[in-house]
Amino acid sequence: MTTINRQQLIDAAIDARTRAYAPYSHFLVGAAVLIRDGRVFGGCNIENAAYPSTNCAERVAMQSAWAVGARDIVAIAVVADTPGPVSPCGGCRQVMAELAPHAVVFLTNMHDNWVETSVAALLPGAFDPNDLPKK
Ligand code: THU
Repeated sequence: MTTINRQQLIDAAIDARTRAYAPYSHFLVGAAVLIRDGRVFGGCNIENAAYPSTNCAERVAMQSAWAVGARDIVAIAVVADTPGPVSPCGGCRQVMAELAPHAVVFLTNMHDNWVETSVAALLPGAFDPNDLPKK
């Protein structure tokens, strides 16, 4: 199993944040996911003039990994220029519960304030595949 290097993953998220497309909110978010085999995928928020069509950084990172078959996400880092560690939105928490339920999550800001948490702590009692009827 890959050793989780917190600072490397946060640095990847900070790098991804430089590519954020946020002309409406001007709120730049970066994320990075670490795959068990050591690969890292970055993501940034990508806004849209039709606001609900915006993609969050966390989802872009997780789904970029999954899109190339890299499914075993062991850690996620998220960064934004917030007073404290950035708080992922509810939709991203739900997608974490689906695509990276066991990931270690590092939330940080641009001033090196960070916390380590888990998907279960971010979304206790998540609706997940086990809630659907077995076919
Ligand atoms: N945003 C993210 O990228 N991740 C979150 O968890 C919270 C919100 C983005 C979406 C939008 O582009 C901007 O931040 C303001 O909501």
